[in-house]
Amino acid sequence: MNIHNFNIDYGIHVIKPHWRRRIGTALLAKILELAKSMGASKISVVRVFRNIKGTYSDMRAAKFYKANNPSTKMSIYRLND
Ligand SMILES: CC(C)(COP(=O)(O)OP(=O)(O)OC[C@H]1O[C@@H](n2cnc3c(N)ncnc32)[C@H](O)[C@@H]1OP(=O)(O)O)[C@@H](O)C(=O)NCCC(=O)NCCS
Repeated sequence: MNIHNFNIDYGIHVIKPHWRRRIGTALLAKILELAKSMGASKISVVRVFRNIKGTYSDMRAAKFYKANNPSTKMSIYRLND
């Protein structure tokens, strides 16, 4: 967690053999707890989609974050190259 802006700079990563065991959720909860203890009212994460629709990995990441009931908004930015 970036202590300057409370962004999860590299996102949450769990090694594949341990997926779907709520480890990612536990990490997210700990990050939130830490951020709150440091005075944050919200945290953020940025995901750069590989293509406009999103790859399977992008979808998995989005489903994971959405499953954790974000109360904040999801913003989508499109960058021109
Ligand atoms: C995304 C990631 C961190 C999830 O970690 P995890 O420990 O497997 O996630 P959890 O077990 O806490 O999942 C919680 C919920 O998220 C959703 N979810 C997680 N993985 C999912 C998947 N592959 N497909 C659909 N929903 C998924 C489910 O609702 C899940 O609850 P359920 O298992 O009861 O259905 C993990 O898949 C990962 O490391 N992916 C590669 C790295 C990555 O893309 N990270 C995001 C960077 S922005």
